[in-house]
Amino acid sequence: MSAPDLHLWHPFTQEGADPAPLQIRRGEGVFLETQDGRQILDAISSWWVNLHGHSHPAIAAAIAGQAARLEHVLFAGFSHEPAEELASRLGKIVPAPLRHIFFSDDGSTAVEVALKLAVQYWRNCSQPGKCRIVALENAYHGDTFGAMSVSDDSPFTSAFDSLRLPVLRVHSAYCAHCPVGLTRATCQIECLGKLERLLAERGHEIAAVIVEPLLQGAGGMIVHPEEFLAGIRRLTTAHDVLLIADEVLTGFGRTGRMFACDRAGVFPDFMCVAKGLTGGFLPLAATLTTERVHDAFTGADRARAFFHGHSYTANPIACAAANANLHIFDTEPVFERIAAIEQVHAARLPEFAEHPGVADVRHIGSVAAIELNVPDAGYLSSLRPRLYEFYLNRGVLLRPLGNVVYILPPYVITPGQLNFVYDIIRDSLALLP
Ligand SMILES: Cc1ncc(COP(=O)(O)O)c(C=O)c1O
Repeated sequence: MSAPDLHLWHPFTQEGADPAPLQIRRGEGVFLETQDGRQILDAISSWWVNLHGHSHPAIAAAIAGQAARLEHVLFAGFSHEPAEELASRLGKIVPAPLRHIFFSDDGSTAVEVALKLAVQYWRNCSQPGKCRIVALENAYHGDTFGAMSVSDDSPFTSAFDSLRLPVLRVHSAYCAHCPVGLTRATCQIECLGKLERLLAERGHEIAAVIVEPLLQGAGGMIVHPEEFLAGIRRLTTAHDVLLIADEVLTGFGRTGRMFACDRAGVFPDFMCVAKGLTGGFLPLAATLTTERVHDAFTGADRARAFFHGHSYTANPIACAAANANLHIFDTEPVFERIAAIEQVHAARLPEFAEHPGVADVRHIGSVAAIELNVPDAGYLSSLRPRLYEFYLNRGVLLRPLGNVVYILPPYVITPGQLNFVYDIIRDSLALLP
């Protein structure tokens, strides 16, 4: 008698309560095709990873070619052409002071690397007391322990509170629910005051501030004013504290520029990238940093080394996918597509803003969010599963963050397809209590 197949335990899924997963057999452009032939429009880029459409032939070909030449080699003591090419390509597009790149596997590990580098940097500089991390309210940086610690308290983290690292928490510029009770039209970004006081009092204990620049993703697609990010950079520089920009979501065009930091003219000390790095094909991540940080790990003393790495660090096939992805930025009108998406967001959101069931609308670059008024606001809002099912039944993949419905499409979505998504969201407002 053969053993039964293993049960597939899916992420972020309520075992025994959520509907059975949909079987997908193909992907092309913005569409996913189910096993029974239904087309589903992927309006969230499959968890924010896809950039240029599913199964883009150029990335698929690069992967196949690389797999046939060199599938993998350990990255300690060895290097390879796909990684060198990727370092060269990224070097041309990241903020200028970032000159060193450390590869890892996904967004969470890129954040772990940044946190560990920041803490060890100060230790290597003979300031071991500078070891605390500051993070924002509503932050989300991943599910591993370090990343989960810098993420704000949420249903994702509550089971592990006893083991999360202590983190200093400051305000996020969540203008729709201003943490200091002001309105954006007249405020002077007073929400920065908490960080300013903290750095003034305890800067000597603080290694780094970590932020999702301009757009906090899983915390509710919260768009920050550029002045907020610029202010964080100004304060961290003034108090000699490192700045980690987690661009895992915002990188590669999502906010309308290659990186969100570019929009605010901010040069971070660390930048974390993942998700879109391979165009959504393979897991690959990187943490980039400056000469100053790298210098502190350099020299004959082995105790200064960064003892961190993953088996698949800089996997050649994933690097080849990333190179093909970045080549598409050079050869296809990617930023024109993003601008066209942003135009549709700007045209369609006002009709939602006027709806009594809508608390706030916001957008930046290719990303838009509609926050709904519900009595049980938050990730576990009872409206969320009903919305999710409603959208899927209409052929659109949208995964609301509780009462926040957001659109984060592959850049190849057409204005017609995007308007279709908006029409379905408009119809879904009938589900509001
Ligand atoms: C800003 C940010 N950082 C880190 C992560 C974690 O990335 P991953 O899921 O690839 O570990 C995410 C994932 O959504 C994210 O949005």
